[in-house]
Amino acid sequence: MQYFWVVLASYLIGSIPASYLTARYWKGIDIRNLGSGNVGTTNVWRNAGPVAGVVALAGDLGKGVLAVILAKHFGGPVLVALSAMAVLTGHSWPIFLGFKGGKLVATGVGVIAAISLPVGAIAAAIWVFTVVVTRYVSVGSVLAVSSIPFLMLAFHLERPYLALGVFIAIIAVYKHIPNMKRLLAGTESRVRKLF
Ligand code: G3P
Repeated sequence: MQYFWVVLASYLIGSIPASYLTARYWKGIDIRNLGSGNVGTTNVWRNAGPVAGVVALAGDLGKGVLAVILAKHFGGPVLVALSAMAVLTGHSWPIFLGFKGGKLVATGVGVIAAISLPVGAIAAAIWVFTVVVTRYVSVGSVLAVSSIPFLMLAFHLERPYLALGVFIAIIAVYKHIPNMKRLLAGTESRVRKLF
C-alpha cells in the first residue's frame, strides 16, 4: 500500500508544471500559446529568455530528482523505477494542466542522474554536443533519450532501471514527433549560433 502512495505522490510531483508556472507568473506569458507550444524548458528559454529557461530547467529537473529521492527512502529499484515512470507521466500528462505537458527530457535527465550520475552525465553531454553541432534542441533531445537504455546496459544497471530507460526513450521520442515533422519540412527552429 505504501508503494501506491509513493507512486501517486511522484505523479503529483511530476504534474506541477514548473516551466508553465515560471513563464506565467514571472514573465506573464502562457507558453502553451507561444513558440512550439510545448510546456518545457526550451520553449520557456525561447520565449522568456535564458534566465527564466534555467529556472524552468531547475524546476523540471528537480521534480525528477525529488521523486527518485522519495522512492529510494521507501524501497528498492522496483519502487524507484515505478516512481520515476510516475513523475515522468505527471510531467508529460499533468493533472494540474489539463493533461497537456512537456516532452520529458529535463525531468528524464533529472530522474536518470539521481539513479546513476554517470548515465545522466553522459546523456546530458550527448545532448549538449548534438545541440552545439546541429543547433536543433530536438535532435539533441531525441539522441540523448535514445542513448539512455544503451548507457544503462553499459553501466550494468538493474532490470527495473532498464525498463525505465526504454520507457523514457519511447515516450520522449513519441512526444518529439511534431519536431521530427518540422525537421523534415525544414521549419524546426534552431538555437542561435554559439560560435
Ligand atoms: O526538450 C524539448 C525539446 O527537445 C524540444 O522543445 O519547444 O522545440 O518543441 P520544443
